[in-house]
Amino acid sequence: MKKNTLRDEKRVVMAKQLWQVLRMNGGNDETSFAKTSYVQKQILSLTKPIKDKAITEMYSKQPPTKAIRIADLGCSSSEKNSLIVIFDLIQTMDNIRRRFKQDPKEYQIYLNDLPGNDFNTLFGSITNFEDRLLEQIGDDFGHCFVNGVPGSFYGRIFPTNTMNFVHSSSSLHWLSQVPENIIENQKRNIYMSRASPPSVLKAYYEQFEKDFLKFLHCRAMEMVDGGKMVLTLLGRHNNQYCYAKESSYLFELLSNVLNDMVSEGNIDEAKLNTFNIAAYTPSPLELEFLVKKEGSFNVNLVHVFQVSWDWNDYKFDSTLDNTSDQYDFTTCMRSVLEPLIIAHFGQEIVDEVFERYREKARVSMAEENNVLTNVAISLTRIPRVRG
Ligand SMILES: C[S@@+](CC[C@H](N)C(=O)[O-])C[C@H]1O[C@@H](n2cnc3c(N)ncnc32)[C@H](O)[C@@H]1O
Repeated sequence: MKKNTLRDEKRVVMAKQLWQVLRMNGGNDETSFAKTSYVQKQILSLTKPIKDKAITEMYSKQPPTKAIRIADLGCSSSEKNSLIVIFDLIQTMDNIRRRFKQDPKEYQIYLNDLPGNDFNTLFGSITNFEDRLLEQIGDDFGHCFVNGVPGSFYGRIFPTNTMNFVHSSSSLHWLSQVPENIIENQKRNIYMSRASPPSVLKAYYEQFEKDFLKFLHCRAMEMVDGGKMVLTLLGRHNNQYCYAKESSYLFELLSNVLNDMVSEGNIDEAKLNTFNIAAYTPSPLELEFLVKKEGSFNVNLVHVFQVSWDWNDYKFDSTLDNTSDQYDFTTCMRSVLEPLIIAHFGQEIVDEVFERYREKARVSMAEENNVLTNVAISLTRIPRVRG
């Protein structure tokens, strides 16, 4: 049997650490994900028509069954995001069952995230969520049972052949681990950058391919025939190169901040050399290619869209709630990246990192129209061949 080398062991430790530290800021304070996740909320509202269409298609030929199982994967802690998605899905399904003049349904809701996620904050909002269902859909909408599912969506999280509708937004670009063997070639880069050699770009793609195929394979086992899945993740238009400014720039600014702090002696260079972001932003073609390669799903639709870093672009958007005037790109990014920074560099530097990030983002936004590109893909589980 091959003996584990020191490098193998280090890799296992690194993967384990990422697993333990990847989480959004919990709680409800000013830097929490629950308070600051306007960018993700905007992405969710822009994909509502895709989700509605998938549900309508799902029930166009056969009406909903009595029990409907719905999952939100990578739900995080914000009721304004995850529970609003679930509310909208139930509302759309309830409209359909009324059209079919069916009895009320039982909705089994599964909210999944990594075990370190602040499920408590999310669960604290369940009563409001249930009250809203009764108020806005009516007390004859049926029953809703909410379950928390701590675990990685890169493994099995549900029983075989049970899920009707699976949703995930702003989560699947996170990889299961930093790609292997990139540290030597990354030097002071923390992500795929203009300066990254092709071997690094390839390693990132290969890690994404491995993870996404595993994700599809697990969902294929868990979903019922004809079940629908709508996935939205950070992505890019460009099919030729793995580096794309449109989706890497938010990490590039962080890289610039950390490099400045190394140059000024505030961060140890060796520490920076071992810090890498475990994310990948696929193109629509890459996603379609991998769905076909895995073979269990049909692609119904792929949609590429952008959201702006700049709140001024949304000021008059009535679909955002009235707290959105607090929208601030840096605070939103802080709620996502802070736990990773603290786990690697320590708590002491974090305020300074994000003060500097804010300044760099301000300068950049004054010069150009910064956006985040997203890819949404709507899939149907191909019926299993029965022997
Ligand atoms: C930016 S948040 C998105 C939250 C929510 N879906 C939204 O749209 O606001 C990304 C979430 O994905 C979760 N996540 C990342 N990798 C995961 C994995 N392998 N399994 C489950 N959740 C994961 C993170 O913990 C985080 O809570």
